[in-house]
Amino acid sequence: MAKKIMVSIKDCKPKMIIAETVYNDYGAVVVWENTVLNRLTLMQLENIGIDYLYVYEQETDESMDAKISEQKLPGQAPDDSFLQSYEKDKSDIKTLLLDLSEGETGSIEKVLDIANSVYARNEQNMDIINCITQIRNVDEYTYYHCINVSMLAMLIGKWLQLEPIDIHMLVQAGLLHDVGKSLIPGSIIKKPAKLTENEYEKVKKHSQYGYYLTKRLNRFDNRILEAILYHHEREDGSGYPRGLNRDQIPLFAKIVAVADTYDAMTANRVYKPKQTPFKVFDMMQNSCFGYLDPVVLNTFLSNISHYYTGSVVKLNDGRIAEVVYINYMQYGKPVLKIGDEYIDLMVRKNLKIEAII
Ligand SMILES: [Fe+2]
Ligand SMILES: [Fe+2]
Repeated sequence: MAKKIMVSIKDCKPKMIIAETVYNDYGAVVVWENTVLNRLTLMQLENIGIDYLYVYEQETDESMDAKISEQKLPGQAPDDSFLQSYEKDKSDIKTLLLDLSEGETGSIEKVLDIANSVYARNEQNMDIINCITQIRNVDEYTYYHCINVSMLAMLIGKWLQLEPIDIHMLVQAGLLHDVGKSLIPGSIIKKPAKLTENEYEKVKKHSQYGYYLTKRLNRFDNRILEAILYHHEREDGSGYPRGLNRDQIPLFAKIVAVADTYDAMTANRVYKPKQTPFKVFDMMQNSCFGYLDPVVLNTFLSNISHYYTGSVVKLNDGRIAEVVYINYMQYGKPVLKIGDEYIDLMVRKNLKIEAII
């Protein structure tokens, strides 16, 4: 591993690789470690008053180029080994949910096996983020959703700097959060249209069903059970099943709620096409305060959005642009670059990102 050295921002050059993540005054990530510096990033870092950076000591051009090509890009499909284990987890959770709904009690080891498989990817942030936004098979939505919520809850746990044992529990809570849906008729769960009031009341029972299904196994930590029971509670008391508010909602339930909301909003369903992550950041930042815990939500948005710096996007006027800066005021409206022109989507309100390409 190359040595980390501290370099004055004035002496930093494009192609140097950042060795320690840089945060702004609000605690949000400005640039991640292992980012390859370019002229614009250097300019931005200088503008926000960063004087020094930790970078890796320069290596030969060949090894630098190898490192650069190893970097994962936003919007890029995860590699085959990641996708294979993701698909296997999806199949395993499908079997597990069926077993649990049929009263099979020997399922605890299977939960831990899948949780361990998800947890083993805890260093692969970019693959996880890219995986969530891939097009999914709509018939298998529920199973992909469980794995995705589990992976996202793991990332949030890391970003909140929780202990590894807590993060592992969050992985389990994410896997099991919707297990109660296995007791609700498939015709309602898979209905490709808006639910009637009566159907919606039935769906709302899933958090209680899930709680009882897992509680009777007598092996899961109470915080996992509470996350299952309370993941639809909302900060303003408008959620279910108990209408709890703010301080009454346990942290794990708040984390699963944020992960659950993001995955549901990014998914393609029979009745809705998938949204770009930027659109979802926008919706979450502007309409979820009051519903989701502000600290958990902001930690999530400030961290995940920065993975999209460098992504190439298509605008509603057909032009192709590069995302060069994520603004913490509006995570869904970054600064873009087309040729020599910089476009701030917070200012140019008529322009929208239509797709990541
Ligand atoms: Fe749910
Ligand atoms: Fe869910």
